[in-house]
Amino acid sequence: MRAQLARDFERFGSELPRDFAGHIREAYRIDLAARYLGFPLPHPIGKGSGQLSLSQEQLENDRAAGLAFAVLKTVIAEDSAGIRAMDAWAIHETRMKVETVRSASGLEGWTVTWKGRGWDRSFESYLELVRAAGEMTRSGGMLALPSVKYHLPRVDESFREGEYRHTTERLAQAWGGEALALEKDFSPTLAGDSLSDERGRILRWLEEVPALIRRSAGGTTVQVALKLMNARHGDSFQLDMVEAAGGADALVCFNRLWSAERRVAYGGYDLSERNLRALAAVKSARVHRPPLSGTGNVSSGRMILEYAKHGCESVQLHTFFQLPLSEYPASAGSRTQRALHALLFHPESGLIAGMLDLEESGRIHRREGELRFLDVQHS
Ligand SMILES: Cc1cc2nc3c(=O)[nH]c(=O)nc-3n(C[C@H](O)[C@H](O)[C@H](O)COP(=O)(O)O)c2cc1C
Repeated sequence: MRAQLARDFERFGSELPRDFAGHIREAYRIDLAARYLGFPLPHPIGKGSGQLSLSQEQLENDRAAGLAFAVLKTVIAEDSAGIRAMDAWAIHETRMKVETVRSASGLEGWTVTWKGRGWDRSFESYLELVRAAGEMTRSGGMLALPSVKYHLPRVDESFREGEYRHTTERLAQAWGGEALALEKDFSPTLAGDSLSDERGRILRWLEEVPALIRRSAGGTTVQVALKLMNARHGDSFQLDMVEAAGGADALVCFNRLWSAERRVAYGGYDLSERNLRALAAVKSARVHRPPLSGTGNVSSGRMILEYAKHGCESVQLHTFFQLPLSEYPASAGSRTQRALHALLFHPESGLIAGMLDLEESGRIHRREGELRFLDVQHS
């Protein structure tokens, strides 16, 4: 199998087959089946919300590459009069800088430095994208779902329910189908904002928002994922947040770190180390929690497995899809294809190699002849 892996790595570097998950199942007897928000996925690798899912063309390229799912850029919620409580998040910024970053532990990784925030075009234009995402999901091409930033009140305020209602109803209509799936974003810029000074305020949001979104959908069922921030209140507060968010249908753990000094969000190994530390605390506390999707510095198949060992059933990447082309071992294909090729087939750091190693060390076992990605969380 190792020899086959070396061969596949070589030949798929010039062209990745669309049904690579089928090939992996046949050739290695490895079932990469994964899950996000109740949707079965052919493998665990998806795209996190952001600048890489702003258009139908981007979605179509990702579908063609074989990505498992994509989360659309976060839109800022509005009420029927077009008023947005979180208006400060709808700012326009195009320049992104992809650069290396060294973690406190001395590891070199990548980060994207960018001062923008949410969707900066009209809500109507977002709804058009959501329509295409709904069709793509229903046709079985690729799961694609919206992401929203809704009003978040101070402790003595109530939620602006009109904003929740208008936005959720319109999204449900546009996405179509019987149930809407969406992510609610708690972003690093929110973590750095004075709104997030108080722990009690954040915990109240996490407790109340899932039910509020569900009852704002005009009768459509909503599957709600909360994308949790890395709050400024220390590692143990991440566990408090996961506990408070128990009413969600899934949690995305955890969005980028906030640099108060540079006033930008960042990633790299500081992010994955903190996330994995917090997820280890969640695992050992055995709290009741929704299913998890991991995000943060996923830059190899081995890192996917680290998130999986800590309970994640899928992963959401952004930075690794933005690297300079010279950083990918593949010589052809879109960035998504090149990234998938490295994440899956790299003979040392790829997902297949990592699964075979877990088998050799006795941490996972074949069932009916197959190794299963979803078994890794119990290893
Ligand atoms: C330029 C940029 C824009 C992003 N915009 C959003 C966003 O609008 N909503 C959101 O939930 N996450 C956003 N993210 C976070 C990513 O989806 C992802 O969770 C995070 O960057 C960690 O993964 P990574 O280390 O693979 O980049 C953004 C990230 C980057 C780099």
